[in-house]
Amino acid sequence: MALFGLGKKGKTVGLDIGSGLLKLAVIDHAGEPELSKVAVAPVLPDAIVEGEIMDPGVVADAIKGVLDSAGIKQKRVVVAVGGRDVIVKKIQVDRMKASDAYEVVRWEAQQHVPFDIEGVELDFQILDPDGEGVQMEVLLVAAKRELVANKLALLEEAGLEASIVDVDAFALHNAFEVNYPDAMHGVAALINIGNEVTNVNLLQDGVPLLARDISLGTKKIREDLQREHGLSADEAEKLVQGFERTDQLDAYVQTRAEEIAVGVERAAAFLQSASREAGSVQKVYCCGGGARIPGLTQTLEDRLRVSVEAANPMQRLRVAEGAFDGFNVDEVGPLLMLSVGLALRRPN
Ligand SMILES: Nc1ncnc2c1ncn2[C@@H]1O[C@H](COP(=O)(O)OP(=O)(O)OP(=O)(O)O)[C@@H](O)[C@H]1O
Ligand SMILES: [Mg+2]
Repeated sequence: MALFGLGKKGKTVGLDIGSGLLKLAVIDHAGEPELSKVAVAPVLPDAIVEGEIMDPGVVADAIKGVLDSAGIKQKRVVVAVGGRDVIVKKIQVDRMKASDAYEVVRWEAQQHVPFDIEGVELDFQILDPDGEGVQMEVLLVAAKRELVANKLALLEEAGLEASIVDVDAFALHNAFEVNYPDAMHGVAALINIGNEVTNVNLLQDGVPLLARDISLGTKKIREDLQREHGLSADEAEKLVQGFERTDQLDAYVQTRAEEIAVGVERAAAFLQSASREAGSVQKVYCCGGGARIPGLTQTLEDRLRVSVEAANPMQRLRVAEGAFDGFNVDEVGPLLMLSVGLALRRPN
């Protein structure tokens, strides 16, 4: 599913424009998908705040820099939009052919989308195409057109164009599905803990049914450490990106893990109220820079009382030799789930 797409075969460049870091993943689709190159580069603090690009020039330069550093000449990239201006919802409509469904889904969408349908990019996927009931289940996705337009304008400023504009939750799911096929049964949570935002995604039997964002990420923990312990930004970052738990860090990890746990529990309760078949969350997977904070996954596991695992976008994906040149796989790997999901898209 994509909000917007055109393109050609070959290599796909997935670009995840985060508020803290740009992450780039290139997948070669010539045979079985293979990760051929990754690159990561920082974005200046406050150039992107709460999903809004405050300084497009600065971000565009950083994007050019990361592509150059990876030696990528290709101008077409896959990007994603997310946040509260993107709605993902399961709806029911009368069964019909996919080719006939667009108008019907668009009409139905007006009742489910809290913004003016004229200003919205829509897409949908029939979840039970082979079902026989009079109604069919459709996963509806709607994004404010402005959000998509801003992303395209940013790429243009960086001399690029979008072959696909995807949705964060679907791209994460895409990478996750390839790497964790066993998680496609029952209810699983995939949590992407970033710099500013934590995305909570619930999957039921492999379908990404619910996506929620929490305003929380590594930045808050860095600020906690700076404010309460007088650490410099670099010192705080070292603890956050470290490999050891420390007493200083543990106190904040505890508080922030609690907030994430509440977010997961609320999302799960919502899913259960909307769908009778939905059971409780059986397993939680974490990715993003925040998943690397020492002690975080363990604290979440103790609190949620379900198994919590750090998810790796290369768990099953083939990786070409030299793809990680200049980067430490263990350090940047967990941050690449979204960019890998984008690069897994095969423009057609
Ligand atoms: N190897 C690493 N290199 C850089 N930062 C790292 C690394 N490992 C963990 N981090 C931490 O993770 C954060 C970035 O995580 P991530 O890339 O998932 O966030 P983001 O996508 O930029 O943010 P958001 O999604 O909230 O906009 C950094 O701010 C840093 O604190
Ligand atoms: Mg992110």
